[in-house]
Amino acid sequence: MRFGAPSADGGRFAAAWSDLAGVGRDHLRGGYSRHVFDDADMLLRQWFTEQAERRGLLVENDRNGNVWAWWGEPGTDAVVTGSHLDSVPGGGAFDGPLGVVSALLAVDELRLRGVTPAKPLALACFAEEEGGRFGLPCMGSRLLTGAVDADQVRRLHDGDGTSVADAARRVGLDPTTLGPDPARLASIGAFVELHVEQGRLLQSADASAVVGIGSEILAHGRWRITVKGQGNHAGTTRPADRRDPMIPAAAAVFAARRAITEHDGAVATIGRITPIPGGTNVIASAVQLWLDVRHESAAVTAEIVDSVVGAVRDEALAEGCTVMVQRESMVDRVAFDTVLGLQLSELLAAPVIPTGAGHDAGVFSAHVPTAMLFVRNPSGVSHAPDEYADTADCLAGVDALADVLENLVR
Ligand code: HGY
Ligand code: MN
Ligand code: MN
Repeated sequence: MRFGAPSADGGRFAAAWSDLAGVGRDHLRGGYSRHVFDDADMLLRQWFTEQAERRGLLVENDRNGNVWAWWGEPGTDAVVTGSHLDSVPGGGAFDGPLGVVSALLAVDELRLRGVTPAKPLALACFAEEEGGRFGLPCMGSRLLTGAVDADQVRRLHDGDGTSVADAARRVGLDPTTLGPDPARLASIGAFVELHVEQGRLLQSADASAVVGIGSEILAHGRWRITVKGQGNHAGTTRPADRRDPMIPAAAAVFAARRAITEHDGAVATIGRITPIPGGTNVIASAVQLWLDVRHESAAVTAEIVDSVVGAVRDEALAEGCTVMVQRESMVDRVAFDTVLGLQLSELLAAPVIPTGAGHDAGVFSAHVPTAMLFVRNPSGVSHAPDEYADTADCLAGVDALADVLENLVR
């Protein structure tokens, strides 16, 4: 790891950041809402393609909506780096794009150093990492690796009822070809994702560290809970006549918080509740809510889900409501490649930290040697407009990524 002022080009970083700054702004929620194949996502893909082609990279879109930019002919034992361009609703600027911008600037840095890769080097942007539109996180990388059933994915639909198949077709993909891409997966020799840190484990590991290395990702899952009651008039329905699905929904929120106080190292969140119809003077007829649970153990994760769903069912019984629970996604704990991780930790003199955030790197780690670099995030805040990283730290991240890539492409 170089010391002193980063050598990566601050002007290029600032230019890239300002190019992206206005794309997909969410004026209602604040921050950004950029979801797979929507206008913002397509603009960002176009930007990435132009930036890559300007660097003489060969750009291709794969069958699963992921974008690849090759330095040298695509081939085997490729070193791949990249991240995602989509965001959560009202998300921050750094989660995803920092890894993509850093990959582009790392190519510039390698060229400045006179490096000519002895192996194919690819920059990649993976589709729908956040699952913000169709509810399936890491959709593009999970389709590519065969981690999800392509038929099920084709049928997923967004809040407007548009299916993945239709959305893919609208941007020129053939939805019938969505699915495993074994040849592409076999061509990857190593994958390194740079990402803004989410949380503050890096600071607690080493207050002076700017870059950290990922060791693992917690097991995590998402469940959709639908509570049905009786819609009614808010002003004329006596308590005894109510079957209000918001009551069991409220129980879920408190049960999730209770669960994380009872299970060390767990996080459980209800961040999204949608009453139907959602009128101020209306008792909802139904409520949909989503539970996000994470823990290093899939068994504890399942235990927490059972305790939250149990609380919902108890309240629903008392309130005369029905409950339906569907698991939308579940990923076991991921341990990154220890040899690669150790190699990078020594190369960069960087601390090794776990993360509770899911990433495409977590999907690839079951198939190829995979590592993550985390760039310091002073507040730790992410998935919110306040997400932030200092430019100097971002440039140090570019240098670190360039050091890693220089080492891997030899
Ligand atoms: O939800 C996550 O952990 C990731 O940011 N997609
Ligand atoms: Mn995220
Ligand atoms: Mn991310």
